[in-house]
Amino acid sequence: MSRLESMYRRIGAQISGLNWAVEVIADLPGDVLELGLGNGRSYHHLREKLPNRFIWVIDREMNAHPSSVPPDEYFLKGEAEAMLARMVSGGVRLALAHYDFGVGVDEVDDAEARRLSPAIRSVMVPGGLIVTQQRLEGFSLETGPDDIARGRYFFYRA
Ligand SMILES: C[S@@+](CC[C@H](N)C(=O)[O-])C[C@H]1O[C@@H](n2cnc3c(N)ncnc32)[C@H](O)[C@@H]1O
Repeated sequence: MSRLESMYRRIGAQISGLNWAVEVIADLPGDVLELGLGNGRSYHHLREKLPNRFIWVIDREMNAHPSSVPPDEYFLKGEAEAMLARMVSGGVRLALAHYDFGVGVDEVDDAEARRLSPAIRSVMVPGGLIVTQQRLEGFSLETGPDDIARGRYFFYRA
């Protein structure tokens, strides 16, 4: 499979997974977090699907398309671990987190996801959902939507 085809599948899985997660958390209290703003595509999607939730964003830099720039007060610019600690001390708790920090190199991305797992856990409400392409640790794995091939995207419960 070419990288282009792989990206096409990944984006399809991302949309399907996020849409599924939006339904699943409907009755859970808490805010939403995008880990990795990048161009802002998935943040833009979450904002469209969840207009009534506060959506926080963590990224070490701002490179988003102008249509997808979060409000200043919800953009936490810096390294993930420090920003997650800031959220915890500010009393923020999350119903949904979308983890999208990957650079596309499995070993690098998996190690980073494992390292950040405890910090992510500390900001979730009980039963909160994490949607991610990387394997996290210390959560319960859920099956997710039927149309996503096993192992392409992961759905974890705090
Ligand atoms: C793949 S891009 C995100 C793509 C984005 N979700 C989209 O749909 O356009 C990953 C982003 O995560 C950020 N990032 C990666 N690791 C990080 C870390 N440990 N702390 C803060 N930001 C990080 C990078 O700066 C980059 O902008």
